[in-house]
Amino acid sequence: MTTGATVHRPVLLKETLEALMVHRSGRYIDANLGGGGHTEAILTASSPDGVVLGIDADAQAIAATRERLAAFGERLRTFHGSSARLSEAADAVDFDAVDGVIFDLGLSSDQLVDQTRGFGIRAGGTLDLRFDVSRGESAADLLALLDVRELQAIFRNYGEEPHATRIARAIVAARATTPITTSEQLSALVEAALPKRYGPPSRIHPATRVFQALRIAVNDELGALRIALAATLSRLSVGGRVAVLTYHSLEDRIVKQAFAAAVRGCICPPRAPACACGLQPTLRLVNKKPITASPEEIAENPRSRSAKLRVAERLAAAA
Ligand SMILES: C[S@@+](CC[C@H](N)C(=O)[O-])C[C@H]1O[C@@H](n2cnc3c(N)ncnc32)[C@H](O)[C@@H]1O
Repeated sequence: MTTGATVHRPVLLKETLEALMVHRSGRYIDANLGGGGHTEAILTASSPDGVVLGIDADAQAIAATRERLAAFGERLRTFHGSSARLSEAADAVDFDAVDGVIFDLGLSSDQLVDQTRGFGIRAGGTLDLRFDVSRGESAADLLALLDVRELQAIFRNYGEEPHATRIARAIVAARATTPITTSEQLSALVEAALPKRYGPPSRIHPATRVFQALRIAVNDELGALRIALAATLSRLSVGGRVAVLTYHSLEDRIVKQAFAAAVRGCICPPRAPACACGLQPTLRLVNKKPITASPEEIAENPRSRSAKLRVAERLAAAA
């Protein structure tokens, strides 16, 4: 791989570009820059003078993508930090109002294959799982510090893991003799803690839910998403669009509910005789059902299998 290159293949690329109605001179925010696949397409479609602000918590991803997309010059602006800081990032480049915001949640294939991060259960490596390695606690830190109840809550709430308690107990027992610091150690421990499975082996690794849960906890992914979506709604210009690609039901539920609340506007109790809050709808849904990948895309890029794309458009404030 040459420097700045990416192995990540952007998901639902054509659909996302269409959804955002990308045009020349537009201003866009990519809240999950990653390998820059979506950003590159937006920069190309908004030629010659569209600008993209790319945000990523992963400094390595920003550096590599800046290098890869250097030909776009000042049309690509970047911000290193959580998407929860979207307002601050937009202020830093004087983006008062933007024409579109894209979220492509979770992790990239570049992170998955990096053995220093521990994201890939099969790739193995140091059990870090932070997007931003310059701050916060790693997954190994959480496994060393939290008690059974706290670990179980993470596995249940963020991984929907049915054997959360068993796994939490196994971790606390194992760490009494050896600290759990690698992906290999954790996945072996989870496998051993689970009840024996009968039937054909699954394509999904048995530790997948536990890894997902730890990653979400370490990066406060759901908290960041809620804040970033709220910030997006206040930055979108009238007619501007937000497109969100999610990969599991916890993320998708947050997006669906945030969009639904903005579409409804009014927050008065359903049985109130008249609206007293005065809040108006701020969004309209562009697609009622989420867009999903075609069988061809799934065959070519298995990561797209679980993707859901939701799109909404900013409405004018009522007079
Ligand atoms: C699926 S990848 C994006 C891939 C990108 N669309 C592409 O085509 O190459 C998700 C990226 O978002 C970043 N990320 C995840 N959660 C984040 C958050 N809360 N704040 C900032 N960046 C985040 C990850 O570091 C990763 O690089």
